[in-house]
Amino acid sequence: MRIYLDNAATSWPKPEVVYNALDKYQREVGAAAGRGGYRDAIEAQRVVAAARREVAGLIGAADPNRIVFGGNCSDALNLSIHGVLRPGDHVVATVCDHNSVLRPLAEQTRTRDVAVTYVGCDGGGYVDPDDVRRAIRPQTLLVIVTHGSNVTGAIQPLAEIAAVAKTAGVLVMVDAAQSVGHVAVAVEKLGVDLLAAAGHKGPLGPSGTGFLYVAPGVENQLRPIRQGGTGIESQLDRMPDELPTRYEAGSLNAPALAGLAAGVKYLRERTVGEVAAHEAMIINRLCDGLRTIAGVRVYGPAPGQPRGPVVSFSVAEYDPQEFAAALDSSCGIQCRAGLHCAPRMHEALGTTALGGAVRMSPGWSTSPADIDRTLEAVAAIAGA
Ligand SMILES: Cc1ncc(COP(=O)(O)O)c(C=O)c1O
Repeated sequence: MRIYLDNAATSWPKPEVVYNALDKYQREVGAAAGRGGYRDAIEAQRVVAAARREVAGLIGAADPNRIVFGGNCSDALNLSIHGVLRPGDHVVATVCDHNSVLRPLAEQTRTRDVAVTYVGCDGGGYVDPDDVRRAIRPQTLLVIVTHGSNVTGAIQPLAEIAAVAKTAGVLVMVDAAQSVGHVAVAVEKLGVDLLAAAGHKGPLGPSGTGFLYVAPGVENQLRPIRQGGTGIESQLDRMPDELPTRYEAGSLNAPALAGLAAGVKYLRERTVGEVAAHEAMIINRLCDGLRTIAGVRVYGPAPGQPRGPVVSFSVAEYDPQEFAAALDSSCGIQCRAGLHCAPRMHEALGTTALGGAVRMSPGWSTSPADIDRTLEAVAAIAGA
């Protein structure tokens, strides 16, 4: 038996249509996208264009060409951070950020004289928009927000934070790795300038998919950080100006994008909020159950606060890695333990010295029975 509770790392299983789309592409299309005029190359291009339309629809972007594909969310974050910052810029980020934000920022600090202020969070894991406002300086170019925490599951008040940044004339960059596909995201309505996400998590696409949304005009400030073949304007010694090609050097992972299109379509074809409502029911069942087990301490949002399907907890007397290993070996429950690539978040929660926490992240196909079995196993191992 396998109960997979690591959907925050990557979603599994995928809907059947995703496996079928990948397989069909590999067997029947096979050509590189955007690289030829023959029938199957055109079909490849059509498949990629369909993936862009699906993703644009999912995040409320009117123009699919503003979706830049890459290998994962880290790729998209590297492009946006290294592409937009200039020496001397200041950035407002938060303690909730993942290493795929923290490390590019640290590199900018080390090599390009960029300064970063990390805004804290409250006990539930929420950032106060007023703290963001207070951290903005005349040199601030960018506010970066991790929309959904991969540790606590807290969903930040993005509209309020974006409004603070807009009022100050500062760009808003969103790490939506843990929110897209789980909660509604509307980039244009929110006034988001750059939004990075993983195709292989909430959007239910295969591994090797990620994307960056670039708002109109932001391309004038966003340098391509990788150069290479694009299949168009080959006479130029630089990347073409057009989006998305300007930021997509080399052949795209077209089979995976075929799968991503199918995954997003699957999500969008459900009634509005159907998957989100299921995930909310499941995560609440899990959190409520964990809170009743003696010796278990649940971190993050209080009941009723905005959250995604991620929860972290610790168990008295237990090292998180040992606890997760016991869940796997005794019951086939697969979850993650440690710092979850978010060291500042664990620092803020006070869990660093404990070796981090145990994290469970159910998904679209997790059943109430899976949660009940998980709760029984947690209670049994905790000795409650
Ligand atoms: C909040 C957050 N940002 C970024 C990432 C990086 O995503 P990827 O593994 O697609 O690069 C993750 C991955 O877990 C994440 O949780």
